[in-house]
Amino acid sequence: MSEEKNQKRGEFIAVCSAKGGVGRTLLTVNLAVALCKKNIRISILDGDFQFGDVSLAMDLQSTFTIKDVIQEITRLDEYTLASYLSHHESGVKVLSAPDQPEYADLITEETLEKIIPLMLTQNEYTIADTGVGLNEKTLLLLEKADQILLVSNLEMATLKNTKAMLETLEKLELRDKVRLVVNRATMESVIQAADVPDILGEEEPIFIPNDFQISSQSLNIGIPFVMNQGKTELAKSVFKMAEQISSRREITMIKKKAPSFISRMFTKNRLKEETE
Ligand SMILES: Nc1ncnc2c1ncn2[C@@H]1O[C@H](COP(=O)(O)OP(=O)(O)OP(=O)(O)O)[C@@H](O)[C@H]1O
Ligand SMILES: [Mg+2]
Repeated sequence: MSEEKNQKRGEFIAVCSAKGGVGRTLLTVNLAVALCKKNIRISILDGDFQFGDVSLAMDLQSTFTIKDVIQEITRLDEYTLASYLSHHESGVKVLSAPDQPEYADLITEETLEKIIPLMLTQNEYTIADTGVGLNEKTLLLLEKADQILLVSNLEMATLKNTKAMLETLEKLELRDKVRLVVNRATMESVIQAADVPDILGEEEPIFIPNDFQISSQSLNIGIPFVMNQGKTELAKSVFKMAEQISSRREITMIKKKAPSFISRMFTKNRLKEETE
């Protein structure tokens, strides 16, 4: 019993997308702050290792980034890791992405295998803003996630790529963890938000309204809109998403380790072979 208690860990949420510029970062930071307002201990891993912009979106002048953590990786424990996180006034802590894209190569699967469990033991929720699409590191984050938020919008190209990504996640047996988020759902488009469940085969997507003024202001001044625009429909939709996410049951460390599909996908090129 006591052993089980010691092994408790927080939940890991990966926010990903098949296309860039769909609102991954905006939703990640606002979701994190919305959860923090519920007195939940939360950190963000900026998993967009080349061009991560979480710090910018929260106006954080990060002294350290994940690159510094990598340099300490052999001695790393939860306390040293904590000293590399930037503290946002909302209470959210952030492990920032490197400030130069070339440093992304320093972040390997092995280092992430060490960093992520330490973040999870320290926080009730850890949210990762992954890079665009599927690459080895994003797949590792998705594999480790308890919940995957796949962000789309109503653009034809985004929907096409989101559908393809859902199919790949199905092949990788990750589909059950995915919750589709349709961002800018109220924007004028040939495709209506109500058509998305049929197009993508997802019964209950989370819909986030379109509000470019609040969104771009939030990103540009670095104040998450749930902090200063809490009464807008946009903020209310994120509070609702936080409610849906946090109403899930508590999970523990003693979960069965899922088989790794990353090697299947990238080393053996299995998916490619299947289509040839
Ligand atoms: N709900 C929304 N309503 C209106 N505009 C939005 C909404 N969400 C995001 N945007 C706008 O979309 C743009 C991209 O947002 P953001 O940077 O969060 O996307 P991203 O997916 O992280 O992009 P990247 O792939 O470049 O990292 C921004 O200009 C933002 O203001
Ligand atoms: Mg981004």
